[in-house]
Amino acid sequence: MGSFTKFMASAIFFIVLSFFLVPTRTQEEGFISFVISSKGLEFSKDLLIEQAVSSIIPLQLPQIEKSVKIPLVGQVHVVLSNITIYNVDIASSYVETGDSGIALIASGATANLSMDWCYSYSTWLFDISDHGDASIQVEGMEVGVTLALNGQEGTLKLSVLECGCYVKDISIKLDGGASWLYQGLVDAFEGQIVSAVEDNISKKIREGIMKLDFLLQSLPKQIALDDIAALNVTFVGNPVFSNSSIEFQINGLFMAPNDDFASSLYNKGSLDPVPFNAPAKMVEISLHENVFSSVSLVFFKANYMQWVINKTPDQSLLNTAGWKYIVPQLYKQYPNEDMELNISVSSPPIMTVVNNGINITVYSDVTIGVMDADEVIPVACISLEIHASCSPDILINKLAGTVKLNHVTAYLKWSKIGNLHMHLVQAVLSTILKTVVVPYVNLHLWKGLPLPLPHGFTLHNSEIVSINSRLTIFSDVAIAERSPTSGQEDGTPWPVDGKP
Ligand SMILES: *[C@@H]1O[C@H](CO)[C@@H](O)[C@H](O)[C@H]1NC(C)=O
Ligand SMILES: *[C@@H]1O[C@H](CO)[C@@H](O)[C@H](O)[C@H]1NC(C)=O
Ligand SMILES: *[C@@H]1O[C@H](CO)[C@@H](O)[C@H](O)[C@H]1NC(C)=O
Ligand SMILES: *[C@@H]1O[C@H](CO)[C@@H](O)[C@H](O)[C@H]1NC(C)=O
Ligand SMILES: *[C@@H]1O[C@H](CO)[C@@H](O)[C@H](O)[C@H]1NC(C)=O
Ligand SMILES: *[C@@H]1O[C@H](CO)[C@@H](O)[C@H](O)[C@H]1NC(C)=O
Ligand SMILES: *[C@@H]1O[C@H](CO)[C@@H](O)[C@H](O)[C@H]1NC(C)=O
Repeated sequence: MGSFTKFMASAIFFIVLSFFLVPTRTQEEGFISFVISSKGLEFSKDLLIEQAVSSIIPLQLPQIEKSVKIPLVGQVHVVLSNITIYNVDIASSYVETGDSGIALIASGATANLSMDWCYSYSTWLFDISDHGDASIQVEGMEVGVTLALNGQEGTLKLSVLECGCYVKDISIKLDGGASWLYQGLVDAFEGQIVSAVEDNISKKIREGIMKLDFLLQSLPKQIALDDIAALNVTFVGNPVFSNSSIEFQINGLFMAPNDDFASSLYNKGSLDPVPFNAPAKMVEISLHENVFSSVSLVFFKANYMQWVINKTPDQSLLNTAGWKYIVPQLYKQYPNEDMELNISVSSPPIMTVVNNGINITVYSDVTIGVMDADEVIPVACISLEIHASCSPDILINKLAGTVKLNHVTAYLKWSKIGNLHMHLVQAVLSTILKTVVVPYVNLHLWKGLPLPLPHGFTLHNSEIVSINSRLTIFSDVAIAERSPTSGQEDGTPWPVDGKP
């Protein structure tokens, strides 16, 4: 394909892109949506170009040789070898999203090349040859690539629609030998060098995109939280391209690893656009409240919502003496005995995203036991309706939170120690929850939930907005400081592997 044709091809990119774009949303939706805004696309573009340039150079072009017929001299054999592009500078670049994909354009690029030259010719008297090196300057290089990004069986498929490289100007400067004499001769090779640069750079870009596609295909479908729960990060449907942003939908529910129990969480209202002035950040990660319900469901089903409490900061709360005035009957029957509380959550906690956080409702049973000669004697059981709220926070690249107890209501289920003053019992149990259970839960919450963020990136300047059953993180993204052990092992163009 000639340079002109390629130039036309890249001109067509713009025409395609300038169509009025209407995002379509008729597909299945996930519980987490991930939007890369125009600011995020800029960031990705710069990163991608930086990676592309460093993976292209040094680029060795094939040797060019040719016999040129020169009047009076005859056939001159010229060989240009060791042609190497060793530097590329990009003046400006931009990224556009279109109906079905992304266009990346780098323009005003320059490239520096070096090469060796030699020529030889034979006269009837003697053979003549000479050689030297040369520097080549390529200017006004335009590189354009349009990419399609589609969902494919839970992963993303990236493919090249168009890829073109166009060189506007080239200058060759020979050094060594009788270079002044042969400069004109070498200029005859300009066209060939230009097409070698154009063809080989386009090919390198296609190769880079294929590598990127391979990495996308090999992204894991789960991110483990621990050995109890994993986040299903399967992509759902196709990415939605709108004016300068891309939105991905991810299943986003937590599940027990390798166990796909049918979840009751598969119905939800659609994720309508958030009706407020969104902060201008690179990415927007939106989590439906069912994401939080799913994690509580997994832990509930794995029997992780039971605690036997036999130690508290105020140990008198766990001795019948401490309950003397609360339940006199208990003290009378078991004077000065240690006690144990078995708190057992009776149904998966209900999580709702409200303005400014998450409200949590937990129904649990507390069995009060008395320690009698190494035996636990259950003496009463109380049902608790616990209302708590959680303030979310970003911890590097995870979503952490702090739970605060708001209100506890206690009901008597059964008792072997007569009637209880429920408002007093409620106050004591509330204190125990606050001093023992809530700090324990917070310790776990501070480990954070994984977010579907590519490996090697962290969030910064994050803002969390919770509204309409959705918690949305608006954030900028930065490349994590890489530790020596987590470096790239090969020349992968993009540090993505999704591992937590
Ligand atoms: C090719 O060129 C580079 C620098 O221009 C030089 O270091 C290298 O030795 C050359 N290779 C050959 C095989 O001439
Ligand atoms: C590339 O060539 C330009 C123009 O000759 C020069 O200014 C620039 O320093 C060169 N860059 C490198 C890295 O050699
Ligand atoms: C590089 O360019 C030359 C000349 O246009 C062409 O013959 C060769 O196939 C190209 N190589 C690649 C890898 O594209
Ligand atoms: C796309 O967004 C840019 C600014 O971000 C705006 O200038 C342009 O008009 C928008 N185009 C459409 C089709 O909405
Ligand atoms: C993960 O999510 C995908 C897409 O919604 C779904 O098809 C798949 O069944 C889920 N995997 C498990 C193990 O639940
Ligand atoms: C705690 O109570 C639950 C439900 O009442 C029961 O299944 C569990 O065995 C009890 N645990 C202990 C250690 O008593
Ligand atoms: C969330 O919890 C707080 C504190 O208990 C309460 O004031 C608020 O009404 C709750 N919001 C919703 C929507 O239930």
